[in-house]
Amino acid sequence: MQNSGPKVTPWEVRGEVDYEELIREFGVEPLNEELINRIERHAGYLHVLLRRNVFFAHREFGEWMDSYERGVETVLYTGRGPSGYTHLGHLVPWIFTKYLQDAFKADLYFQVTDDEKFLINPGMSVEEVKRYTDDNLLDIIAVGFDPKRTKIFTNLSYTKELYNIAVRVAKHVTFSTARATFGFTESSNIGIIFFPAMQAAPCFLPQTLKGTDAHVLIPCAIDQEPYWRITRDVAPKLGYRKPAGIYSKFIPGLGAGGKMSASMPETCIFLSDSPEEAKKKIRNAFTGGQPTVREQREKGGDPDVCVVYWYLYYLFDEDDKSVAETYEACRRGNRICGECKEQLAEKVAAFLVEHQRRREGARSILDEFLLRD
Ligand code: TRP
Repeated sequence: MQNSGPKVTPWEVRGEVDYEELIREFGVEPLNEELINRIERHAGYLHVLLRRNVFFAHREFGEWMDSYERGVETVLYTGRGPSGYTHLGHLVPWIFTKYLQDAFKADLYFQVTDDEKFLINPGMSVEEVKRYTDDNLLDIIAVGFDPKRTKIFTNLSYTKELYNIAVRVAKHVTFSTARATFGFTESSNIGIIFFPAMQAAPCFLPQTLKGTDAHVLIPCAIDQEPYWRITRDVAPKLGYRKPAGIYSKFIPGLGAGGKMSASMPETCIFLSDSPEEAKKKIRNAFTGGQPTVREQREKGGDPDVCVVYWYLYYLFDEDDKSVAETYEACRRGNRICGECKEQLAEKVAAFLVEHQRRREGARSILDEFLLRD
């Protein structure tokens, strides 16, 4: 395996990511105007995550919308690996998934891969993963998915149904394919080698549970694509449609480079952070500013490498005119980092207060969402 230069697998994202290059490497399509306009027609509005290109690529998304328009059952599938507490970056694909659920009135199957996180992290016990799982479930529900249309399950507690699908998938995937796709080695444990079949299984769960010919769409970050490549190869062999996908970029942390990562707590905003803690992290964030205010005024800053600007642009300032002004003012040295940090800090604090309120409400409705053996 290469160990320098950019690298993207489901378990590692390293280096500066070139999304054009990823599109070529993964053989997916860029989201074009025509598709974006089509979502907008169904949703009634264009989500900021589409407008600003956070969701940027897809596979057969147009075909999935064809199915919807023709009255074929169209379903959504996404998931979460519970390796820690949820942070703001995790929420991005879920917020978008809710938008799709509302737009297409679709059932959503939400997988929590407690088995994966146990298997992949050498120091993690099943008990620890279960603690994170219980906690993460509340954040998932707090996003506001429709309880009538949403089923959430964890692999270790909804095993029977999933395993019965996973063995059928696994029989069609050779070790050599899995190794080439995921970079397994001789010392990989055998659990993680089987795991891709468990992540593929929900693509065929709606068909199994309801006996319908459902067309599944998977909204997720692009690093999950290798799973769907395998799943799509297997689907016709099991007599199912290939799942479609719609893919997002990675969400950066508050430090320089890399994605927001729970293993670097100072660089990410946990959904359980108090508004004050979150504000403090934002005030310490990496920016594109100059070392001193004087230099900033003279030379201007660089919003293109600034994480604070990134968050304003992609999530917290939907007003096109306002973000454009921020960008220009920064470049010209008319705006200093403190101003952007305060603007973002206020937005994030308000967001957290609201999320935490909904999270408390989630406890009492948890059972409506859960599938268990
Ligand atoms: N493997 C994913 C993770 O580590 C979790 C996951 C399972 C997932 N099924 C999914 C993510 C479907 C997106 C879509 O986060």
